Amino acid sequence: MKNNGGTQTPAGSPVGKAVNGSHPVNGANGANGANGANGANRPNGSNGAKAGAAAALQQRAADRDFQQAISGGLTAARRKFVIVAVFSLCANLLLLSLPIYLFQLSDRVYTSRSLDTLIMLSVVVVGAIGAYVFLDVIRRLILTRVAVETESRLGAPVLSAAAKAAQGGISRDFQTLGDLQQLRAFITGPVILMMLDAPVAPFYLLAVFLIHPHLGAIVTATGLALVVIGLINQKLTAVPFAQANTYAGRANLAADAMARNSQVINAMGMIPEGVQIWGRETAESLKAHVTAQDRNTYLAGISKMVRLSTQVAILGWGAWLALHDELTGGMVIAASIVASRALAPLEGTIEGWRGFVHARSAYARIKTLLQNSPLNLERLRLPNPAGRLTVERILYVPPPSKKVILNGVSFQLEPGESLAIVGTSGAGKSTLARMLVGSIAPTAGNVRLDWMDLRNWDPRQFGESVGYLPQDVQLFPASIKANIARMREDVSDAAIFEAAELADVHEMISQFAAGYETQVLIDGSPLSGGQKQRIGLARAFFGNPRLVVLDEPNSNLDAAGEMALARALTRAKDKKITIVAITQRPSLLQSVDRIMILKDGTAQAVGKREDIIPMLSGRPPGNGSVPPPPSTGNGPPRLDA
Ligand SMILES: Nc1ncnc2c1ncn2[C@@H]1O[C@H](COP(=O)(O)OP(=O)(O)OP(=O)(O)O)[C@@H](O)[C@H]1O
Ligand SMILES: [Mg+2]
Repeated sequence: MKNNGGTQTPAGSPVGKAVNGSHPVNGANGANGANGANGANRPNGSNGAKAGAAAALQQRAADRDFQQAISGGLTAARRKFVIVAVFSLCANLLLLSLPIYLFQLSDRVYTSRSLDTLIMLSVVVVGAIGAYVFLDVIRRLILTRVAVETESRLGAPVLSAAAKAAQGGISRDFQTLGDLQQLRAFITGPVILMMLDAPVAPFYLLAVFLIHPHLGAIVTATGLALVVIGLINQKLTAVPFAQANTYAGRANLAADAMARNSQVINAMGMIPEGVQIWGRETAESLKAHVTAQDRNTYLAGISKMVRLSTQVAILGWGAWLALHDELTGGMVIAASIVASRALAPLEGTIEGWRGFVHARSAYARIKTLLQNSPLNLERLRLPNPAGRLTVERILYVPPPSKKVILNGVSFQLEPGESLAIVGTSGAGKSTLARMLVGSIAPTAGNVRLDWMDLRNWDPRQFGESVGYLPQDVQLFPASIKANIARMREDVSDAAIFEAAELADVHEMISQFAAGYETQVLIDGSPLSGGQKQRIGLARAFFGNPRLVVLDEPNSNLDAAGEMALARALTRAKDKKITIVAITQRPSLLQSVDRIMILKDGTAQAVGKREDIIPMLSGRPPGNGSVPPPPSTGNGPPRLDA
């Protein structure tokens, strides 16, 4: 076994290079290489102190240091990858003992007929194989842990960043969680092991060359042929595989839409249509998949042919060389074994290349999401706002359409003042509401809370100072209590009760058998539409917000509910909460200080309640500049009728 020791020594130096080149995460993240050594264990350590110092209501998992999450997670992963790579190299070198054994048998044992040599060689080779298996098991165990650690470290930051990125209404970023799973699957999959085995292939190739240069040339030629076939395979299958994925994604969206609208679908017998839409996308996906898979199979066949022919070529040419006394039979067989070991990682890498590319782009998406997240920016923690809302000439033109949705809207509200926004359907009321709570940013102009642009508030602090009731109220699948408390666990029951009192929903909640503990399901049951709206109102008022934006809070309310809402607005005024309420019904107008009429995205009139109401009801005051909307007699009175 002297040979073995000799091979290992020169192997020492290329290890580092080979490892860095081959493992994907490292390669993709060259930029973070410098801060490699430290902070691998507790990247969030410094955050702990910061969070502890923050005010009680604001102590929350700091979701800012994504940069650190990425680099910390990677550093830990990278160190383990280096270990795995070293293990892989050693394991593969140990595996060389098999051909060497064969070589020695034919060279020494057959010639010397020494039983002792046979026994000794066998013991050594069994030991080497045992060590190989041990190292192989260890490296797989480590990779599993790297994978789990990557997902657990990056999961929370990715979900936070995705939620933030989705605030404008595009939820594609939530798919990044899927990317994270893909990355984990790749790290635990077989391809990465093959890729880690690849750096040792040159040594095997060298061994074949040492046995006989002709045989080495055959193996080299095969290797090149396999690479070419692999490249052709990539070219021919990339497009159909991508198509298959796109269609499969659309089919999933269709199935999701069916799940969300299951009641509508069932009520109106729309199941066949839903299935048809899903089926169309699925069929396209499968078609593309078959095309890609067929091409893949053909090329895999060719590559198998090449590889098996190589075995024949080595054995055949080896036999010819043996006939000319240039080799022994044992050497030929040893060469064939070593050759297949040299080609296996190459083949595996080619086969798994697509997986590698996918994992790499998944990783790139994760990195982009985390690095570009607005949550990354540290913002000064200001004193909690008093609730002065300033809107300055906002213009909103969402990118693709170029349609002006809001144009030159301006107003200012002092703490405790309330404004009702009325206007026809599609006037831009909900858009304005979303802008007031920072969900969407104006194309031009500013929305300020206490003089500070919304974009510059710390998101958490801002969120706690604001209440928002969207037009389409959705509750979380949890208890009523948790929903009112905005899913927070670190709050007192008194705070929840206070919000329920303020929103005047305590009595309504008491009528449920389980009271505040009543579980709301994903579809909102057992709450009625109006009840959901009132729980949403309590949620908006939870935690003593300074600005509350209500988007048609009374659209599902009966007369009693409207009275409760009016009382809630009066109480909010006493607490100096600034209120913006969008409404289509006149009843709410009696409880506000000011009214704005929005038409086609422009404020037609803003003013005191007493001045605006006459315009709306068709009795223009002396100086009214806005013609009154025509009124109709049927249904509940609506301002946009
Ligand atoms: N992201 C968007 N991209 C393009 N157009 C949009 C977008 N969001 C809203 N709109 C358009 O802006 C207009 C105003 O929508 P908005 O939801 O604000 O109306 P609204 O006044 O709340 O109406 P309603 O009373 O029916 O709730 C509509 O014409 C709508 O089609
Ligand atoms: Mg609306």
